Amino acid sequence: MTEGVADRYGVMGYPVSHSRSPVIHRLFAAQTGQNIQYELLQVAPDKLEQAVLQFGRTGGKGLNITVPHKSEVVRLVDELSEQASNAGAVNTLQFLDGKIFGYNTDGIGFMRDLQSNQGMQLKNANILILGAGGATRGIIGPLLEAEPHSIVIANRTFPKASGLADHFASQGPVTACRFQDVRSLPVYDLVINATSAGVKGETPPYPAAAIHPQTVCYDMSYGLTPTPFSHWAAERGAAKSVMGWGMLVEQAAESFYIWRGVRPDTAAVLKQLTINAS
Ligand code: ATR
Repeated sequence: MTEGVADRYGVMGYPVSHSRSPVIHRLFAAQTGQNIQYELLQVAPDKLEQAVLQFGRTGGKGLNITVPHKSEVVRLVDELSEQASNAGAVNTLQFLDGKIFGYNTDGIGFMRDLQSNQGMQLKNANILILGAGGATRGIIGPLLEAEPHSIVIANRTFPKASGLADHFASQGPVTACRFQDVRSLPVYDLVINATSAGVKGETPPYPAAAIHPQTVCYDMSYGLTPTPFSHWAAERGAAKSVMGWGMLVEQAAESFYIWRGVRPDTAAVLKQLTINAS
């Protein structure tokens, strides 16, 4: 049993009521015997600075930062991790010794889910990423570290994709194209949906040429039922169509590790979460 005053954590977003982070962190805490409380904190963009500083000043130990604050919060941080700097975004804050430390665990969470949970081999793989926003920016660095053969970023708005490709070109083989210019070669081993279309209830003309029988499709978003992208990919005969539940739990586990120095068992929590969700 844990005793004493619980350390305070929370997730800040706008809106935030849909966030599963409180459930996940409470499950981690119960599993590892950590004495924490974890709150949902709805904070409008113009109140972000005040809310973050106040949380730290009043003894809060750590925050998860979610949409739409991940980029904006960077300027409030005293020390930024390399991953956060690369991603241009922070999803985890730690308040320690009067300082604010900023991390980004999204990339690590994504890679753990792909490589450990899904057993994907990324070395020499051909990868297509749909979308060129913050979600894409956060995963390109970690994906390049796995030494793929190629990464193509396809986006509705081409200049955003080419801007990202230029930004990462010195780190590895990244190029850009429009959705309609995606071809059936190279044969893609992995197609990642990093657009926010599904979340907004929209279904863009995803490029059917990208899907081969051996292609694994990964939707960074997730839902109680198949997302439009994962449904689309399965219908087109992808080898596997995965939603981002695993990424969600793995990024949370990495935040929990930063804060508490303890690694939770993610498989157990993932199972509990998706059973509860369905
Ligand atoms: P995030 O930070 O969550 O990635 P974002 O920066 O707003 O959010 O980026 C959203 C991405 O989803 C963008 O690549 C966007 O395409 P555009 O750059 O053309 O706007 C993509 N997106 C959102 N809705 C879309 C839709 N209906 N069709 C195609 N792409 C869409």
